[in-house]
Amino acid sequence: MRKMLNEDLARLGEGKPKILFPEHHLSHAASAFYPSPFEEAAILTVDGVGEWATTTIGKGSGKDITILKELHFPHSLGLLYSAFTAFCGFRVNSGEYKLMGLAPYGNPEAERVQQWKKAIHDELIDVRDDGSMLLNMEYFNYATGLTMCHFPKWEKLFNLPARQPESDISQAYMDMALAIQQVTEEIVFTLAETARELTGCENLVMAGGVALNCVANGKLLRRGTFKDIWIQPAAGDAGGALGAALAGRHIWLGQDRTVDPADSMRGSYLGPEFHENDILRVVRRFGAPFTKYDDFGTLTSNVANLLTEGNAIGWFQGRMEYGPRALGGRSIIGDPRHPEMQKKLNLKIKYREGFRPFAPSVMEEEIGTWFDLDRPSPYMLMVAPVADKQCKPLPEGYNEMEMYERLYVQRSSIPAVTHVDNSARIQSVTKRTNPRYWKLIDTFNREHGCGLVVNTSFNVRGEPIVCTPYDAYACFMRTEMDYLVLGDYVFTKTEQPEWSEGENWIDQFELD
Ligand SMILES: [Fe+2]
Repeated sequence: MRKMLNEDLARLGEGKPKILFPEHHLSHAASAFYPSPFEEAAILTVDGVGEWATTTIGKGSGKDITILKELHFPHSLGLLYSAFTAFCGFRVNSGEYKLMGLAPYGNPEAERVQQWKKAIHDELIDVRDDGSMLLNMEYFNYATGLTMCHFPKWEKLFNLPARQPESDISQAYMDMALAIQQVTEEIVFTLAETARELTGCENLVMAGGVALNCVANGKLLRRGTFKDIWIQPAAGDAGGALGAALAGRHIWLGQDRTVDPADSMRGSYLGPEFHENDILRVVRRFGAPFTKYDDFGTLTSNVANLLTEGNAIGWFQGRMEYGPRALGGRSIIGDPRHPEMQKKLNLKIKYREGFRPFAPSVMEEEIGTWFDLDRPSPYMLMVAPVADKQCKPLPEGYNEMEMYERLYVQRSSIPAVTHVDNSARIQSVTKRTNPRYWKLIDTFNREHGCGLVVNTSFNVRGEPIVCTPYDAYACFMRTEMDYLVLGDYVFTKTEQPEWSEGENWIDQFELD
């Protein structure tokens, strides 16, 4: 790798540049600590694998990072979770999120959930008191083969066939998702306790793919092991680029760090931004009718009205988000109170599994009104319960089991963003980092009494989030989205000409 980089960079004619190599987990650690709001913090990185480390515990202080403990390949919590992702018929490296979303449909009272948890502990893993663990490699294939696990051995262990991708998801796989989610949470909690003891720090920062498990994060926060937790929004390997750059700046160059009490990620709106000309180029190319608003207040008021009518609206403003979540720069939004909104977005717009829940974007000022969360969650990395006052009272004769028949979802006043276990994956929106999105939700709140919207990433299943105005218009036209807002321009689906992709459209779309 070093030789290849040197050769390619030398071709640029600048002589032989100096290459710094921050290790994979140091990059994760740097991406978590340096932009965090803490002067000092415990650092926990957990992923599949990078070089040889799979989990590290460290301490950040000022501009320094010290790694205190490392767990090495093939023993890996991330790869364990990925093996279950594969067994349940989802794609490794992207389907982990689906497995987490499926877990609340599992029945915690079911005997097999307990049996499977025991089987995991008895046969698959040996977890130590400090949260480190050994995997029984007789069951796993990733170290030497091309698959995650030895399927026949797993099928025998769990007495369940591996699920075929895209087939119907039976209750058994929901229960399995719950079993591995609970095991994962327990290990994360123990690792966090070890980090607390080793560092003596009262705050924690996290990165690595496992830090995207927002269900575990929310529970860890509520356990109170740490006073506060900050997670790098690009916690997966994409965030390694930022971490490597920050490690270079603070560790190798020794530059001081300035701590921003709200964090230094600028809302994670670090991607490309486009201008009016780029939007007008799309308009001209497709002869697309539009309404342009010179007054943003009028735009937000009209869009808020459209939301209450049950429309799904593409919302494209400013810089694109850095990291896996859409945070109101490239989002599809809707009214969370609408009973059909979840189904509409899943089936008609995102073309994905109907069970997958959506996240709310709530004005920071309104979090406590809607959720049991006492602090901001700007990056959709914390799951918390929907507030009791937003739920209709329990019907008479209520029993625990009814919960699994989606009772809570029907009870919630915001069903489109309430998961089956009455939880929500919260994004709080501030005026400071995204004034236009905040203004829209504020208008929705003032005019229609709802300080939150449904927010899902602006893309269809299997495709990346849209980046350019062209991408956004194409995605708008290829789905049943009702309206598209590009900056100050609003497009109505029923007014648009018939859609055809044309040839080589990517080449023809130049950027300013
Ligand atoms: Fe990683």
